Amino acid sequence: MLVLGIESSCDETAVALLEAAAGEVQPRVLSSVISTQIPLHRMYGGVIPELASRNHSSNLPVVLREALEKAGRSIHEVDVFASTAGPGLVAALLVGNTAAKALALAAKKPFVAVNHLEGHMLSPFITRPQGLVPHLSLVVSGGHTLLVDVRGVSNYTLMGRSLDDAAGEAFDKVAKMLDLPYPGGPEIDKRAEQGDPERFRLPRPMMHENHLNFSFSGLKTAVLYTLPKLTPSGNPNDLPEQTLCDLCAGVRQAIIDVLLHKAMKALRKSGHKVLAVSGGVSCNSALRAQLAARCERARVELVLPPNSLTTDNAAMIAYAGMLRAQHGDFSPLETPVDPNLKLAGMQTRA
Ligand code: KG4
Ligand code: ZN
Repeated sequence: MLVLGIESSCDETAVALLEAAAGEVQPRVLSSVISTQIPLHRMYGGVIPELASRNHSSNLPVVLREALEKAGRSIHEVDVFASTAGPGLVAALLVGNTAAKALALAAKKPFVAVNHLEGHMLSPFITRPQGLVPHLSLVVSGGHTLLVDVRGVSNYTLMGRSLDDAAGEAFDKVAKMLDLPYPGGPEIDKRAEQGDPERFRLPRPMMHENHLNFSFSGLKTAVLYTLPKLTPSGNPNDLPEQTLCDLCAGVRQAIIDVLLHKAMKALRKSGHKVLAVSGGVSCNSALRAQLAARCERARVELVLPPNSLTTDNAAMIAYAGMLRAQHGDFSPLETPVDPNLKLAGMQTRA
């Protein structure tokens, strides 16, 4: 089965081709092309939906051609077309989604509407030789922080989520406060490498509460109150470089501590022995290293996507599309995009 996936929910235009023979659990990623608009949106400090949509329209034909060329395949060989249907920016979603539907219609091949979050959630298994198994999933992206008990495709139980800012959003908002470029995660990560995480003891909200929900919005408030104590002007650009690095290290460690603590608690509660971590924040090197150490101690298998598949990409959309297609779970072409799309099959655990 050859699947072509398209992702355009935010500021990345991406196309990927994945192939798996019947009975094969690990697909081959024939190509995964990503055209990022980050430099374009950076000057506005965040994503401008209208600009994102226009750029998806002009980028998509180029990205599509490149993905087919890299894979060495023609559009006529594709068996299934998959695209992100939500959540995301509606005008951005429409570009990739309409293109995938048009291609499916012209080629008389089935279409699968994929939930972006499901794409992230299942992405760690693209490169796992034994394929997808029941596991605990920790999704840490710019828009979501979720702990999900995954028993199979479309068999999801929500165990915890952020009640305010997502982990990536916390990185981005703190970075903005420190006058660092968008997106803030990699900027804070880079400076944190040179910093002392113990110098500023920042709060770890909800860490020791019994439930599995998260709250990260207090972190930006804590940084807001810390800044004027460090420089009379309150201007982050007046901070000595080492102070900035120490602050970044403190923020990064506060987020990691909460994620680790809740993930280990959710593992004990769910009984799973496999932890999959996905989403843009999962490419954070310190998070990866600390997760690996904790999982080894707890004899838990840690499944991470390669760095290239952590932030938005189309291979994860093609993979989720492939798993659905293998179950004969196709979507009618009338399926609308939905900026607030909920995960199909998601139950909430009380
Ligand atoms: O999954 P993603 O590409 O988009 C969403 O679906 O939201 O995640 C983007 C998020 C941004 O908030 C970005 O700051 C964060 O991932 N991120 C990181 C790192 N690289 C990207 N956060 C922490 N450390 C990183 N190295
Ligand atoms: Zn994403």
